[in-house]
Amino acid sequence: MARIGIFGAGYVGLVTGTCFASLGHDVVVRDVVPEKIDALCRGEIPIYEPGLEELLAANRDRIDFTIDVAEAIAGADFLYVAVGTPPTYSGDADLSAVWTVVEELAAVAGSPIVVMKSTVPVGTGDKVRVALDARGLTQIGYVSNPEFLAEGTALRDFIQPDRIVIGAFDSEDGDRVEELHASLDAPVVRCDVNSAEMVKLAANAFLSTRISFINEIANVCELVGADVESVAKGVGLDHRLGPHFLRAGIGFGGSCFPKDVSALKQLAGNSGYHFQLLSAVIEVNELQKRRVIAKLQKHLGRLRGKTIALLGLAFKPDTDDLREAPSLVIAARLSAEGAEVRTWDPVVDGSDIQGVTPCPTVLEAVRGADAAVIVTEWSELAGLANDEVREAMARPLIVDGRNLLDPAATRAAGFAYEGIGRNGSSFETLPETAEPELRI
Ligand code: UDX
Repeated sequence: MARIGIFGAGYVGLVTGTCFASLGHDVVVRDVVPEKIDALCRGEIPIYEPGLEELLAANRDRIDFTIDVAEAIAGADFLYVAVGTPPTYSGDADLSAVWTVVEELAAVAGSPIVVMKSTVPVGTGDKVRVALDARGLTQIGYVSNPEFLAEGTALRDFIQPDRIVIGAFDSEDGDRVEELHASLDAPVVRCDVNSAEMVKLAANAFLSTRISFINEIANVCELVGADVESVAKGVGLDHRLGPHFLRAGIGFGGSCFPKDVSALKQLAGNSGYHFQLLSAVIEVNELQKRRVIAKLQKHLGRLRGKTIALLGLAFKPDTDDLREAPSLVIAARLSAEGAEVRTWDPVVDGSDIQGVTPCPTVLEAVRGADAAVIVTEWSELAGLANDEVREAMARPLIVDGRNLLDPAATRAAGFAYEGIGRNGSSFETLPETAEPELRI
């Protein structure tokens, strides 16, 4: 069994560390935030990820948490880098946390392999290799092993990955990282470091492109009287296309897609190539969030003084992550229009979001509201179209940003219903009194 040091106790570091511990390895996770490490030592997980707390508790004897670099690197066979690489002002990835870790490796005595899990621009591995060599650390190996876990299903994604991508300068280093995953049943892609780095960016950019594509199809469906749910089903059954990531909605968010699409676009631009397609993917995604405002105006006219309940804040269900969540843009736009915004989310408390009133229950959020907007498809919202909710609302209007509800059943339950790209969700059926301001 190997000894694994992990830099970064975020989603990737905690899931990777806990899963490796569950495979029988000895793990030390190191983070720079003492409060986070104190909480982890007490068995408290600072993020919401289904199953993680239980898996950690079951493997607690094989995983330690520390703020001390020396503890993480002592005797380590592998040193995983799982620190954040958030976007900078320019849209490039901010690699300062990665470089801090590289500086800290100066204290390494043995010959561990550094495994880069963080999403980094293509060429980063080359630069790290040069930096390590320049410090006389030629005995340290370097492997790019990008992470593909999705929040909410992270444990399953680790244990049953679609593939494991390993990019190495030295094939023996690659072999050792491959061996670490020997008990997992997944195809392994072995390649050079640059290509491994590019796989991650390309995969996320491609998935984001599919979402923006289906969202544009949805917008056209609204104009021509088609239903995007049927269209996506029909399209997705083509084996060359597949059914995944064709759910129309209010756009993608989260810690990866927005940042990685932007990072790939900037990487291409910095290398002299204008990646036009990704510019469109980003723009479509921004407009998609704002279309909710137009849908509300279609029914309510001016939003000043209206009360809107935003149901769901997290960027997707089964996570407490608010990074780049569409809810933030929609809440800010509604406030700017003069609406009173109430929010409900089963895990995100919402009190840090400016200008909104968080409510503990769905019923409290919708009481007296002029509209309810489904922002995140939490399973708790599947039964939203009920008598209690209808009677509590000032106007029984549901804007379903995730196509969670059945339009016919919702209308039969006495609600006005707007989905995304569904029959009857067209902007062409504007009521005359609505004073619409169709700004998207
Ligand atoms: C994503 C990638 O899936 C993962 O491989 C990578 O490592 C990190 O980024 P994550 O951000 O956790 O994972 O969530 P994901 O389930 O991929 O959803 C991303 C966003 O796209 C969410 O806002 C989701 O609502 C949206 N989405 C997804 C759609 O709008 N439609 C879809 O069909 C799928």
